[in-house]
Amino acid sequence: LGVSDTGDVLARLRAAAAGRTAAGVRRTLSPRDADFGGMLDMASNDYLGLCGHPRLVAGAVAAASEWGTGSTGSRLVTGTTVLHERLEAELAAFAGAAGALVFSSGYLANLSVVTALTAVLRGRDGHVLIVSDERNHASLIDACRLARGSRVRLEIYPHRDVAAATALLATRTEESALLVSDAVFSVDGASAPVTELYAAARAHGALLVLDEAHAFGVAGPDGRGLAYAAGLAGAPDLVRTVTLSKSLASQGGAVLGATEVIDTIVDTGRGFIFDTGLAPPSAGAALAALGVLADEPERARRAVRNAGRLADIVAGLGLTPQQPSPPQPSPRSPQSPQARPQAAVLAVVLGEPWHAVEARDSCARSGVRVGCFRPPSVPDGQACLRLTARATMTESDFSLAERALSGARGHTRVDVHPLFRQ
Ligand SMILES: Cc1ncc(COP(=O)(O)O)c(C=O)c1O
Repeated sequence: LGVSDTGDVLARLRAAAAGRTAAGVRRTLSPRDADFGGMLDMASNDYLGLCGHPRLVAGAVAAASEWGTGSTGSRLVTGTTVLHERLEAELAAFAGAAGALVFSSGYLANLSVVTALTAVLRGRDGHVLIVSDERNHASLIDACRLARGSRVRLEIYPHRDVAAATALLATRTEESALLVSDAVFSVDGASAPVTELYAAARAHGALLVLDEAHAFGVAGPDGRGLAYAAGLAGAPDLVRTVTLSKSLASQGGAVLGATEVIDTIVDTGRGFIFDTGLAPPSAGAALAALGVLADEPERARRAVRNAGRLADIVAGLGLTPQQPSPPQPSPRSPQSPQARPQAAVLAVVLGEPWHAVEARDSCARSGVRVGCFRPPSVPDGQACLRLTARATMTESDFSLAERALSGARGHTRVDVHPLFRQ
């Protein structure tokens, strides 16, 4: 290989960017105003409509006044305040978990839990099997990739396919196993078959690692998540991760689980040990959000109900499939399609990237901001609009959403995700 100068390197980066432009997968940052420029927000993860809520703002301000703007160090040095301790206690109590450990992001929580558990279970001469859903969030995918290696086997199963996951677990020759899944999948909004996954994990002596990022604060009783709804909250062989950045409208993440799991991460989780602790204003805002949720549990129900209204609107537009739908549950594990969203996310599959971009831009011209997901965030041929509901949506918001989606249909053919088809 010849040595190239910086100009060559930058030229190659430009050529690669041009290739991405041609493929319709070039990304642009579009800074928004605080009020979304007057547009209806159907793109953010502020499911409960708490971002900017006076109690959260006051919580962040009070935390900044008392503790300052930063946590000043990693959690094991100076980055643990009594605010962090309180947040961990309240998160664990809300979710019915034995313990909680707060991180500066949900991404790091996922990275740390999978890598730390794998490393410790593998030990000096052990072996670990990791079984992971193909549509898990990138942070779980990265966590599994990082954990994979000598004496750690990684197997991927088709989206939500419990039978396939079970079959992989049954191939285990390793001493330990992890089964890893999103609870509510971040792009298509589909719920994982949590009860069945837990049963499969338990039957094969595996720990179930469940990412409740899009479920926490929204799905299940009073927003306590899908594992809680399934009666698994205190199960010792269940480890949950959550983010504070979606329904709780703050920033940060957490692992919820047995004391042994928390201790393992505190001692060995590199994403925990070598990262600065969560900033106090974020901890203060998250605590305030938990307070709002305790006082107004109907917010969670409204967010889910409003997602159902959006699903009705999309289905009511009489739209037809354009591209092959995402993999269906295999015949070996028949799962009844979910008629209703269990959380606040809804996907409208469009096909090629440019279809999704056109539809997104059309919605924007109608005054609605929607998410637009293209490969590699979704598989090839499954570019989609990602719609999110908010607890605070009004009748006029639904009318506007319907007009905007109807207009988007004029630009491209739109298909509601099969899981939400009526
Ligand atoms: C399913 C899922 N897990 C984890 C994360 C990461 O959380 P955070 O944004 O707090 O890093 C996200 C989204 O950002 C997500 O959608």
